Amino acid sequence: MAPVKVTKICCIGAGYVGGPTCAVIALKCPHITVTIVDLNKARVDAWNSPDFDLPIYEPGLVDVVKQARGRNLFFSTDVDKGIREADLIFVSVNTPTKKSGVGAGFAADLNYVELATRRIAAVATSSKIVVEKSTVPCRTAESMRTILEANSKPGTRFDILSNPEFLAEGTAIADLFKPDRVLIGSLQSQEGKDACQSLAEVYGNWVPEERVLTVGLWSSELSKLAANAMLAQRISSINALSAICEATGANIDEVAHAIGFDSRIGPKFLRASVGFGGSCFQKDILNLVYLSESLHLPQVAAYWRQVVEMNEYQKSRFSKTVVDTLFNTITGKHIAVLGFAFKADTGDTRESASISIIRDFLQERAYVTIYDPKVEEAQIWQDLSEAAPNLTLETIKKQVTIVHSALEACQQKEAVVIATEWKEFREIDWETVYQNMSKPAFVFDGRLLVDADKLRKIGFKVTTIGRGERL
Ligand code: UDX
Ligand code: ADP
Repeated sequence: MAPVKVTKICCIGAGYVGGPTCAVIALKCPHITVTIVDLNKARVDAWNSPDFDLPIYEPGLVDVVKQARGRNLFFSTDVDKGIREADLIFVSVNTPTKKSGVGAGFAADLNYVELATRRIAAVATSSKIVVEKSTVPCRTAESMRTILEANSKPGTRFDILSNPEFLAEGTAIADLFKPDRVLIGSLQSQEGKDACQSLAEVYGNWVPEERVLTVGLWSSELSKLAANAMLAQRISSINALSAICEATGANIDEVAHAIGFDSRIGPKFLRASVGFGGSCFQKDILNLVYLSESLHLPQVAAYWRQVVEMNEYQKSRFSKTVVDTLFNTITGKHIAVLGFAFKADTGDTRESASISIIRDFLQERAYVTIYDPKVEEAQIWQDLSEAAPNLTLETIKKQVTIVHSALEACQQKEAVVIATEWKEFREIDWETVYQNMSKPAFVFDGRLLVDADKLRKIGFKVTTIGRGERL
């Protein structure tokens, strides 16, 4: 049998991965009907909103949706219809770290993947290519295949592919338009290879052939975890070095610049920071740790666990620097935190370093004023409540204020903490900020964002990650 020509795609899960990915597929493949389905009605309504008030903020996304929505891109809560009509289905549901039970704190919660898979098996009346898009532990495709095969109706066959997403938030649309690579994993049977070719043809509409890599199913699954683990490991490595810089007077920017010139190392992803966040790095490394332990490879597990531990250390080290610098106490002091998202150009707060830092400040009974250009207020309250379960929301609200501009946040504060690298924080009128702050006025730059010398000339006392005071 020849590979199926895909004309109808369904994506289960209208989140940060499924939404942008399938919107771009629709844009680039006008001959394919793409329906993105989700159980969350509010989310679907937002994707369908007449004024394009989409549920996620991503530069360039609105333009894509404007061009394709209603043409060959649809958003719906009718999951069953989406499944029934499609010849290829992306499973792009959430896979958070398990909070309880076996593997709690490490393993991925595959409940959503399993429920979506069972739904496909229950509803499908024709053969489907089922593509695992969510980040999942190795061998999840195998479980999906078992569920689908055990529940399929006569005459329906399911081919499983793994097609992990490598987009980064904030640059998702650019990453999707011009991916470094598209990875497709399949079983090495003829049917598996045919299914792989069907999906490769979809990407072939805009991705050069040499960038579409086809590998075995398990290699594909492991590659996703490996790529994120290696990226996170670079950040933990540079952050570990930033601690040495602070203690010795070396400058982490200079060190990163110097080592990045080695073409084997390269300059990217060497920016010291207050710690990495996001929905992927920590989750994927913990998955790798869990996998290594399950495979009786404790040394491998310990190696990767240390990447996450270094990240935790970096966040708490930063909070401690703030306390130490503010004369060993921040109780009752007023601190502005600029940025709540885990990185610039996104409204996503998952695992954001800001959350840990503000939790630490709250435990020290400081007053915190937060400003972020994109994060919703309700999200901030939810994140802080989860991070500080020993405090009631009422108590948190007594200590925390959310405002709508950086200047407002900094007014009358003793210290300003830069936690996310939003470009607008570099361009704040720091002279005005200084006039309106209590003195001495402290700035803690957790993102190597501002010109420290310029701020010092204005009068600020500036502390920057990875820069020692000693010469
Ligand atoms: C990451 C991967 O980059 C992407 O390929 C994968 O598909 C999903 O996970 P994302 O989490 O969206 O993407 O953002 P990324 O740009 O990788 O940043 C992750 C975190 O690392 C952010 O908190 C960022 O601020 C931090 N970071 C990144 C640094 O601290 N220093 C750097 O040099 C780079
Ligand atoms: P990611 O960052 O991986 O895209 P998100 O949490 O942003 O994760 O999105 C996952 C989406 O999947 C959520 O909107 C959730 O409602 C949806 N979802 C989870 N399970 C199902 C399911 N069985 N059917 C349809 N949608 C689902």
